[in-house]
Amino acid sequence: MKEINWEKAFTIYFDMENGLADKKPIQRRLSDMKDMYYDSEAVEDLINENPLIYEYYDLGAPEHEGDLAFGTSIVYPGKVGNEYFMTKGHFHSILDTAEVYFCLRGKGCMMMESPEGDWDVQELTPGKALYVPKRYAHRSINIGNEPLITFFAFRADAGHDYGTIESKGFRKLIVETDGKMEIINNPNWK
Ligand code: NI
Repeated sequence: MKEINWEKAFTIYFDMENGLADKKPIQRRLSDMKDMYYDSEAVEDLINENPLIYEYYDLGAPEHEGDLAFGTSIVYPGKVGNEYFMTKGHFHSILDTAEVYFCLRGKGCMMMESPEGDWDVQELTPGKALYVPKRYAHRSINIGNEPLITFFAFRADAGHDYGTIESKGFRKLIVETDGKMEIINNPNWK
């Protein structure tokens, strides 16, 4: 794909089945986020296989408050131990910026958490739009058995703070217990 000119109207095609565009996605494998899963033995068992957990597009929107960054995110089905495949999750560097997700395919959840510790989980199914309010960290989690594909859009200069979640984790995790999703306290939360 050629360079996008953000000063002009443009279109970009995302495949509704697999979420992919004619551009190289950013990929995250287990090795990129191994400390984010609470079951470290399960991580060790899977680390040689190093599965692709998720991928997403950064189209390079100018980091300007008047622009919008957007793209698709594809979280693959699977589990590390009993914890579902998920994205790393992040706060926005400009905390007071929201984000919209629209679910195109699959079954998932969005885990959200504010710096003060308020948290929420919303289910994502095709056709559902989710408003992630400003100030909330967000992580997509695939609780189904096909790819979870979402389209997202946020203020282009919001920035990403991955470090806070990397060092502290989310307070709550989503695991599978007896074939059903369950929200548990994160034993490693700091
Ligand atoms: Ni975001």
